[in-house]
Amino acid sequence: MGRHDYILNDAENHASIIDGCRLSFVKNVLRYEHNDMASLEERLQRLPGDAGKLIITDGVFSMSGDIAKLPEIIKLARKYGARVMVDDAHGVGMVGECGRGTANYFGLEDEVDIIMTTFSKSLASLGGCIAADQDVIGYVKHKSRPFIFSASLPPANAAAAREALRIIKEEPGRQKALIDISNYMRAKLKEAGIPILDGGTAIIPVFTYDMNRTFLITKVLFEEGVYVNPVIPPAVKDGECMLRTSYTATHTREQMDTAVEAFKKVFARFS
Ligand SMILES: Cc1ncc(COP(=O)(O)O)c(C=O)c1O
Repeated sequence: MGRHDYILNDAENHASIIDGCRLSFVKNVLRYEHNDMASLEERLQRLPGDAGKLIITDGVFSMSGDIAKLPEIIKLARKYGARVMVDDAHGVGMVGECGRGTANYFGLEDEVDIIMTTFSKSLASLGGCIAADQDVIGYVKHKSRPFIFSASLPPANAAAAREALRIIKEEPGRQKALIDISNYMRAKLKEAGIPILDGGTAIIPVFTYDMNRTFLITKVLFEEGVYVNPVIPPAVKDGECMLRTSYTATHTREQMDTAVEAFKKVFARFS
């Protein structure tokens, strides 16, 4: 992005996007309320019609596990002459046909200008990639300082990511198992009265609110054999702490039943 361009970021975009914005030459980075289309439009309306604009959003949000409202984002982008970039670190391998991600899930692969993903989640490796039209890729290859001046991906990581892609494509049962086990766990947690943020992905946030309580619950759950990630400020607002629970295709229903029992016990103790 150039000095006089504008970036519009969802408020819950991943920290790496914020750092990317800082590394770019853009002076004007605007934040809109999370997945709030009125807020995005209000920001777009303020910008000069002929300025370069890029809307950046996670596809599946890393903390709350919800999915970007991509159809509405694309509509607004067309109306106000903006381009759209989707960080699909958590969408690839999970949503869309054969795990092709959020844009595919909405049938909008051709409408999104840049799709970025990492190899470190579903692809079980390290590194990442972007997919875009040839002119965009050519521009990045010749302009991106980190791309030009940093060592490239080790071949072993590229090979591991490629193999993971092949498995995802050829064994669609794994993606289905991932969604099934997540839905099973979501229903079980709800039934047990554990406060969760509802959704449809393999990330299920569990509300714990207070920071000390969050750490205590995390520690005691670990002692009970359940590993969860505590999420505290600045990743969330004060008083909105949570446990980020996430699931894999190889989790079993028996393991989920055990985990729910542990949740029930620990939440009763720290109610
Ligand atoms: C949405 C999102 N984008 C980018 C990244 C960065 O991925 P990596 O750690 O592979 O660089 C993450 C990692 O947590 C993420 O959640």
